[in-house]
Amino acid sequence: MDLPDYYETVARDVADFAAGAEGIWVDLGCGEGGVGLALARRCQAFVLFVDPDSAALREALESGREAGFARRIGALAGCAEQMPLASESVDLVVSRGSIFFWRDPIQGVREVYRILRPGGRAMIGGGLGSAYPKWARKEFMRRRRESIAREGPQALARFEEKRSPKTFRHIATEAGLPAFHIVGESDAPLDDPRADLGIWLQFSK
Ligand SMILES: C[S@@+](CC[C@H](N)C(=O)[O-])C[C@H]1O[C@@H](n2cnc3c(N)ncnc32)[C@H](O)[C@@H]1O
Repeated sequence: MDLPDYYETVARDVADFAAGAEGIWVDLGCGEGGVGLALARRCQAFVLFVDPDSAALREALESGREAGFARRIGALAGCAEQMPLASESVDLVVSRGSIFFWRDPIQGVREVYRILRPGGRAMIGGGLGSAYPKWARKEFMRRRRESIAREGPQALARFEEKRSPKTFRHIATEAGLPAFHIVGESDAPLDDPRADLGIWLQFSK
């Protein structure tokens, strides 16, 4: 059974978080650009895709051009730990499903803070969006956990630890963020409504 698309529901949460701000927005660890493209459909910001995978960046750009966004999308190859952007140069950073793969998430969060303009905002984590249907989230997570459990007994524990509020709090604190919010509890049991939001670190500068 196909599950509904989640990029639109994530983009809705990001747009709410942006609270009307526009400017330059970065989709960090964008992959093929699902979140950034959904944001381009919803908002007027310039969306900059950043990912170490050049082939994925090309796909993101191509899809964006086909959708008619050629004049307000761009792409830069690079990673979170060494962002290819000047300090205080962007208005919003969103990163979905990527921090779990960063070699050094603490350094990555420091870099995100560095590139934000004063007043800029960042939302880093993972999830399917608060309006994603509950039944589909449950099924999505059931499949995800089942496939990870096949990798071995420790894999599921590692997966959950990376997505726990405790780990996110540790990253934010060690990165030296002056203030932040952790939203969601994606390590909660599948039936627990606190898990619906996934897990996000939100902060502003
Ligand atoms: C699971 S994919 C998520 C892609 C996309 N954000 C989405 O929601 O579909 C993880 C992405 O993180 C990228 N990535 C891995 N290490 C990274 C790093 N150190 N900095 C930034 N992105 C990284 C990968 O290349 C990949 O595109």
